[in-house]
Amino acid sequence: MNSSRQKQPILEVNNLHVEYPVNFRGGFRRQKKQAVNGVSFTIFPGECFTIVGESGCGKSSIIDAILGFVKIKTGTVLFEKQDLTKLTPKNFRKLRPKIQPVFQDYNQALNPHQRIEDIFRETLPKHLLESQTDQLLSSVGLSKEIIRCFPHQLSGGQKQRVVLARALSVNPALLLLDEPVTSLDMSVFVQIVELLISLRKTRNLTFLLVSHNLSIVHLLADRVAIMKNGQFLEQQPLTTLLRNPKHDYTKNFINQITQL
Ligand SMILES: Nc1ncnc2c1ncn2[C@@H]1O[C@H](COP(=O)(O)OP(=O)(O)OP(=O)(O)O)[C@@H](O)[C@H]1O
Ligand SMILES: [Mg+2]
Repeated sequence: MNSSRQKQPILEVNNLHVEYPVNFRGGFRRQKKQAVNGVSFTIFPGECFTIVGESGCGKSSIIDAILGFVKIKTGTVLFEKQDLTKLTPKNFRKLRPKIQPVFQDYNQALNPHQRIEDIFRETLPKHLLESQTDQLLSSVGLSKEIIRCFPHQLSGGQKQRVVLARALSVNPALLLLDEPVTSLDMSVFVQIVELLISLRKTRNLTFLLVSHNLSIVHLLADRVAIMKNGQFLEQQPLTTLLRNPKHDYTKNFINQITQL
């Protein structure tokens, strides 16, 4: 009997298609834009799987489809073996805290009228609110003094740390990181990437990272998918991709990394 235990995937996306209606003036035909056109990938626990590709290639549409923000035309999304596309709304809501997004735009993610402490009031049980908020803030490198602040009183880097702390407050297994550091300046960028690296280890997290910023890919990714026009051209472990890219398009990307 084979005693070696194979890890089960945490997320399996099969043949995903996402399309959007396109409005065009005076037209009679209903046009559709194919944003994601038959994408498949698997992520194993603890991994950082990264999707890179130029603006508009469909990266965020994959994340939005996993989160149920956009309708999936065809395909399946299995999280811990459960097909999210087939869950009832109630069961989907129950499972959703395990999958937490972190987007580029921290200003949009935080309610400007809510103090930081109120943000956690929504996700943490009352009796644990104070102790857990302190602990969460410290885990993302923020001091507890900021709990009385409104988001506009914080820097960009601090706001993205709050967004991360809020995501962590519901004990997720999978973080969907959509350009999480793109809006930050270089020194803060590096700090947040270091924070992500350490959180992944200490909290046993799995990452699906989406970016066109190649330095973050270089620092975080285990495996990389190169995306173009709604499709994956190739997916490889980062080291294999760097050594042996299959497509010219990938070669161009890699040249950009090595020039950084
Ligand atoms: N809500 C929408 N309605 C119509 N078209 C959309 C919608 N959202 C995205 N699209 C289109 O779908 C395609 C993929 O968009 P998506 O946002 O997934 O790309 P992206 O790779 O995340 O780009 P970026 O790097 O700029 O964030 C684009 O052509 C975009 O214009
Ligand atoms: Mg995007």
